[in-house]
Amino acid sequence: MRRKLAAGNWKMNGDAAMLGELADLAGAQGAQGDDAPEILICPPHTLLAHAVAVTDGSPVGIGGQDCHPAEKGAHTGDVSAQMIAATGAGAVIVGHSERRADHHEDNDTVRAKVEAAWAAGLTAILCIGESEEERMGDDTLQIIADQLHASAPDGTTGDNTVIAYEPIWAIGTGRVPTMEQIVETHDMLRDELVGRFGMDAMTIRLLYGGSVKPANAAEIFTADNVDGALVGGASLKAADFQPIINALAAS
Ligand code: 13P
Repeated sequence: MRRKLAAGNWKMNGDAAMLGELADLAGAQGAQGDDAPEILICPPHTLLAHAVAVTDGSPVGIGGQDCHPAEKGAHTGDVSAQMIAATGAGAVIVGHSERRADHHEDNDTVRAKVEAAWAAGLTAILCIGESEEERMGDDTLQIIADQLHASAPDGTTGDNTVIAYEPIWAIGTGRVPTMEQIVETHDMLRDELVGRFGMDAMTIRLLYGGSVKPANAAEIFTADNVDGALVGGASLKAADFQPIINALAAS
């Protein structure tokens, strides 16, 4: 019912040489059955058009890592969703915890960015997730639910949005929540989405992100409401990302 999604976030990494990794990844994909996972790589904006060209005709899609809420204007250094779409990219990550921390993006800003992505015809990959301090507290699930509702606009559907749950303390640390925590959190997110958007929300894909590696991917993908992963470090090399795609395909 929900197509699985293996998404890579290159963050502020990527040069011309890494386009070779992308070409390798694109070339490594065999014939795609109906249930083959969707594959998406989000390189830095500087590489978007090149990445689209390198993956042209392959099953690997390309996305941006952030967009400004406005379509255009006096916002030096920013990039709009329309600009990302014009490169041929089909998606954009919004609300990543590194943007929320480094650029003080709050839920209102993130929600406006999701709407900007939709207006440009892009799929929004909306990121949420708790800090370590919030995880240690008693109301972790409520905090995550509140962030979800405040960041996801009315009109969120499985066609226009993917939700990526990324606990901040698991990003780049090699630490991963227990399977019990992963199941509990994703089940809660599904319930919250269905409660707000009705049964249509059963089509909204939920990704887990935070230290996903070839060694732990298969176990993470056993959770019913984990529809794929948003992968940082292990998406930089085709040899690391491919086993994650394979584990998702086999799940
Ligand atoms: P890592 O896979 O490097 O932990 O990064 C996760 C992430 O932040 C993806 O958006």
